[in-house]
Amino acid sequence: MIHLLAGLICYLCGSIPFSYLLPKLKKIDVRTVGSGNVGGTNALRAAGPVIGFSCMILDALKAFIPVLVFSKLSGMDPKVVGIAAIAAVLGHDFPIFLKFKGGKGVASTTGVMFAICYPCGFVFLAVWLLIVLTTKFVSLGSIIGLYTASLVGFFFNTNFGVLFLILATISTVRHSDNVERLLHGTERKTDLLAFLKK
Ligand code: G3P
Repeated sequence: MIHLLAGLICYLCGSIPFSYLLPKLKKIDVRTVGSGNVGGTNALRAAGPVIGFSCMILDALKAFIPVLVFSKLSGMDPKVVGIAAIAAVLGHDFPIFLKFKGGKGVASTTGVMFAICYPCGFVFLAVWLLIVLTTKFVSLGSIIGLYTASLVGFFFNTNFGVLFLILATISTVRHSDNVERLLHGTERKTDLLAFLKK
């Protein structure tokens, strides 16, 4: 029963499309601008730093809170944690409230990491920031950051490592357009510092 509840509740929480809803306050539909992605980065470029960074934080929290709750309720049962984590991220990527067209799961995967192995969350943030600040390619920072944090997860617990690798791979598949653009030199650049100064 707890497995089913974890899957359902985490999927529904992950489905809340903050990165769609917040830019709408400025009458911006992120699905029709920039990369078209329903994610914090596209919201940042389209709607500015307050909305963009809020989207990133809320997208992480909508996975962090329910996954933390079900981890505690189940006494860190690996199956329950795995179902909760994957359901939360799939909710973000395929949200029931947006006809299953969602984002790439970077912030929500980070929320999962902070919920069950917070050092991995910090590793992700450090690598992500380093790469995004030096290259200005958010997608590159996201993919490398997620895999680096996954590998670090193995040092804490094999189950965490495997789970994070699955989530990093789902996110990489969702980044297939970005990877193609990176390979062709046409990926969008995002200057985080410039947004922070705004
Ligand atoms: O979190 C998504 C990010 O890695 C890429 O977003 O809008 O540049 O495709 P975007």
